[in-house]
Amino acid sequence: MNSLLSPDVPRAEDSPGRARHRATAEEATVAALLRCCLREIAGPRGEVWDGPPYTFLRLAGTLIRARVRGGMALRFAEPPAWLEDGAWRPLTSALLVRLVQAGLSKNDDGNDEFGGQVAASRDAITRILAARERAAPPAGPWLASEQALTIGHPFHPSPKARDATGWLRYAPEAHATFPLRLLGVRHDVLLSGGDTTALDKLDAGAATPPGYTLLPAHPWQLDLLAADLAAPLADGRLVDLGHGSRPVVPTSSVRTVHEPVSGMCLKFSLDVRITNCVRKNAWYELEGAVALSERLEPVFGALATRFPGTGWLPEPGFRSAALGTRLLEGLGVILRASPSPTALLAAALAAATALPAMVAERQAAEPVRWWAAYVRHVALPALDAFCAHGVVLEAHLQNVLVKTAPDGMPSGAVFRDLEGAKLVAGRHDLAGVPGPVAGALTYTADQGWNRVAYCLLVNHLPEIAATIAGRAGDDGDRLLAELWGVAWDELAAYARSREWPARMRDLLSGVPLPAKANLSVRWSRAADRAAGYVPVANPLAGRDGDGIMEVAG
Ligand SMILES: Nc1ncnc2c1ncn2[C@@H]1O[C@H](COP(=O)(O)OP(=O)(O)OP(=O)(O)O)[C@@H](O)[C@H]1O
Ligand SMILES: [Mg+2]
Repeated sequence: MNSLLSPDVPRAEDSPGRARHRATAEEATVAALLRCCLREIAGPRGEVWDGPPYTFLRLAGTLIRARVRGGMALRFAEPPAWLEDGAWRPLTSALLVRLVQAGLSKNDDGNDEFGGQVAASRDAITRILAARERAAPPAGPWLASEQALTIGHPFHPSPKARDATGWLRYAPEAHATFPLRLLGVRHDVLLSGGDTTALDKLDAGAATPPGYTLLPAHPWQLDLLAADLAAPLADGRLVDLGHGSRPVVPTSSVRTVHEPVSGMCLKFSLDVRITNCVRKNAWYELEGAVALSERLEPVFGALATRFPGTGWLPEPGFRSAALGTRLLEGLGVILRASPSPTALLAAALAAATALPAMVAERQAAEPVRWWAAYVRHVALPALDAFCAHGVVLEAHLQNVLVKTAPDGMPSGAVFRDLEGAKLVAGRHDLAGVPGPVAGALTYTADQGWNRVAYCLLVNHLPEIAATIAGRAGDDGDRLLAELWGVAWDELAAYARSREWPARMRDLLSGVPLPAKANLSVRWSRAADRAAGYVPVANPLAGRDGDGIMEVAG
């Protein structure tokens, strides 16, 4: 039992740097797993209570205490501890995994992969931290921010696990760069949609033979698909054209890269599980990206008029090879416009890493004004996309880029990733879009609002607020309350301008919010789209209950 409970003991061969990285990785892993336990296991079972200055929870009969800061972001002010024989001992990820297993296996068949995934994620963080010390970050604030997510999703039990070997060579967090592999696809098996002309620029040194069209590929994915590729390469349906002329830069999703010759982002399939999904472009998503890009153009035009600074990254085309579903999806690449090189990934703002000095300084100097501008620029267009246009934007921290003015204040938001963007059923003309593609693009209004509320109000805004408040030391709790009061005012002013849509009225009166249950998805080995949601307290609750009746009439 003891070896399971002891903290991650430094190994004999550890250098001081390595030991430090292992400790940081363990701390981050405990924190992420404990957040999931609070939200998904102990919270819903009523086994969490406050005993200031601590929050206590019980997991499989074991008492755990933590000093929680940052409201619903659940940041821990000191290492969480568990009670053994009357003494508080540091909580380890190994113990927490055991407690999850003991707590959840009563209800089902258990999950013998879970502990391995948590440990793999922790070890990946250690390796990422070590690799970063030897590598130079990309030039430019945008790409540096894409590569700043060393610890990853704060509410996922195994945020950095990658269930395939060789991942470090392609890891954005390790500042990897690598050339693409180039294939030629014979015209009779070429599959293409929308505008893909940008890809032809990659042909410069490759000389695609007549009768073939160039198809760039992620080198990792080609390794993973090697067995399936052997036949089409042997019989000439595909040809291997070697490597791209310049290295690409992977962005935070790992599989989407910035390609400097075309200037585009290329979203590849990767047959690797990253958080909850094996990252494959499904065939209907290839077509769906193009269909959505056409339909979102006027919507973003209207949003940019009403909320100056709003932008998006269209996905104008895709290419693949019609060689059966596995290769069609496995080789499918979606083209995406690149943002300005100075935009910043919202998740990097939340993690407070790789930020330009002016942004960090302005946020620290004027936290309330900075936050008000952030809410106006980021939240209002995402809410208006839903309320006024029937468009669901998956505005989580990794799908939003934030523009800042020269003085460091937020000045606009750029929304990306059309895989998660959906149209509310009945509000759009999908004539001409094949049934399965249209089906995958559509949500009911309830499904859509759940997604908007989770991405924006659970995944995104609370993390930014907690980071701002975290800078205020002992004054953090007071500042956090002030930030949510300001958010209420901004959202209420917007709701009033749209004559109080029913969902905005509910939101501002404080209805609980839906939080995606990432631990439960991993535990049950379910598909991400089958993920359940647990209700969490709404940070906008209790701000101005009377006021809403007054203004809403
Ligand atoms: N707070 C966060 N919320 C959601 N995802 C996060 C967060 N922090 C890190 N991530 C990571 O970002 C990625 C988000 O997945 P998502 O499905 O949006 O991207 P994708 O579709 O693979 O690629 P792209 O965003 O380039 O279209 C995952 O790898 C996830 O682990
Ligand atoms: Mg994304």
